[in-house]
Amino acid sequence: MQHDKVLILDFGSQVTQLIARRVRDASVYCEIHPNDVSDDFIKSYAPKAIILSGSHASTYEDHELRAPQAVWDAGVPVLGICYGMQTMAVQLGGSVEWSDHREFGYAEVRAHGHTQLLDGIQDFETPEKHGMLKVWMSHGDKVAALPPGFKLMASTPNCPIAGMADEARGFYAVQFHPEVTHTPQGEALLRRFVRDIAGCKGDWQMGSYIDEAVARIREQVGDEEVILGLSGGVDSSVAAALIHRAIGDQLTCVFVDHGLLRLNEGRMVMEMFAGRLHAKVVHVDASEQFLGKLAGVTDPERKRKIIGAEFVEVFQAEARKLTNAKWLAQGTIYPDVVESGGTKTKKATTIKSHHNVGGLPETLGLKLLEPLRELFKDEVRALGVALGLPPDMVYRHPFPGPGLGVRILGEIRKDFADLLRRADAIFIEELRNTIDPGTGKSWYALTSQAFAVFLPVKSVGVMGDGRTYDYVVALRAVQTSDFMTADWAELPYSLLKKTSGRIINEVRGINRVTYDVSSKPPATIEWE
Ligand code: XMP
Repeated sequence: MQHDKVLILDFGSQVTQLIARRVRDASVYCEIHPNDVSDDFIKSYAPKAIILSGSHASTYEDHELRAPQAVWDAGVPVLGICYGMQTMAVQLGGSVEWSDHREFGYAEVRAHGHTQLLDGIQDFETPEKHGMLKVWMSHGDKVAALPPGFKLMASTPNCPIAGMADEARGFYAVQFHPEVTHTPQGEALLRRFVRDIAGCKGDWQMGSYIDEAVARIREQVGDEEVILGLSGGVDSSVAAALIHRAIGDQLTCVFVDHGLLRLNEGRMVMEMFAGRLHAKVVHVDASEQFLGKLAGVTDPERKRKIIGAEFVEVFQAEARKLTNAKWLAQGTIYPDVVESGGTKTKKATTIKSHHNVGGLPETLGLKLLEPLRELFKDEVRALGVALGLPPDMVYRHPFPGPGLGVRILGEIRKDFADLLRRADAIFIEELRNTIDPGTGKSWYALTSQAFAVFLPVKSVGVMGDGRTYDYVVALRAVQTSDFMTADWAELPYSLLKKTSGRIINEVRGINRVTYDVSSKPPATIEWE
């Protein structure tokens, strides 16, 4: 890769990925690696700058958590953040002390020393003309003595050394977190560091990335054939479009319809990939097989396992028919790589593995092609748009692998799935069509995930002159940035009213609609 690269060393902070996001927002390529990489790794990576993340640890407690010597010898600018600042202080001859006054949350930091990092970057000035930054702090320990060669760069009343710099060597450090959005100037500060101080060119852009990625895929694959499991989700769709751009008919997509997809989803995927892109797509309608295996099963985890195992089986059967295929392509993205313990030190938390990819490569004996491995979700979306995929598809809400299987509570039946699909489509249509006047955005764009859930209970209603005794759906809409925590969305009553009216009138079999007002935690986003 020809780009200027920044190396982020992870000491186990929960927000290390946000540092990478901010650096990429400054159009600079970066990667996160564990703090204990070797000196040789750092030399061969050849970073233009290095950033040291925060950590849950203390410098005097955990002596494993040090930056490698090569960080200081690389001759490139280094930025320490929070724990990164503390280890910089200790390793370069300063000191850190335990503080009985911990600082969490909002703080105002005064700039000192006229450093290049903070030059012209401030939120407000005090009457004495001191430049001030509004920042987010999260620390107990603090730097007590500057290392030789360093000067004071920032302070708060509780933290007299909240920033330090040795500008001759390009070493900077801040106790606060510039990577979080609660530090309004954080983006400007990180941009200043990577673009102006380190001199990175800002050459990380999606449009130009396509040519590079296409060339890489061609080189990797040569004249061999590739198979890819298309799910209709963003990641596999973008991977398919990119690989198809690179190798055309050497790619075969396998689209498994498990009968638990959203309304018209199968048709849309086929129209897009087989129709518009002219990609080779094998459409496997396995809905009867899936629903057969699921008959009578009510336990959510067993349902998930059956759907996952069946998916692998169906996909493998198709893959074996493609005897020339040597590669299995997957839409793995960077957060999957980092979070699934890509780090030796296992500092990042482990997320659940995706059921539809687990186990395939080993049993099929195929080589793995993962062209999105270095991209974040919003970069994947930008790439999808640049490849010509419709923005509606690329900016869709996430949809779980087991599909409607976890949105039909208890036993899954085809008639339940059919009712749910129609109710869900009405809800999504109303969300897309209702514009919030304050932001000018649709409620679909203002929510992170929204869907209907089928409740297999009957309630009494009245329609016309008759009594009805029909099923219930719950509507769920949440706002979240990371899906780990989520708030239920305060949708306008008029939107809820129109949606419920349409569902009850248009979907015979449903006579009651409820809205889920539970946050995560303690509820989860899905009902199962
Ligand atoms: P929960 O319900 O745990 O969901 O709050 C968090 C996010 O994960 C999605 N989800 C899944 N995705 N397979 C998937 O591929 C699954 O089994 C699964 N379960 C939940 C959910 O839709 C939400 O975005």
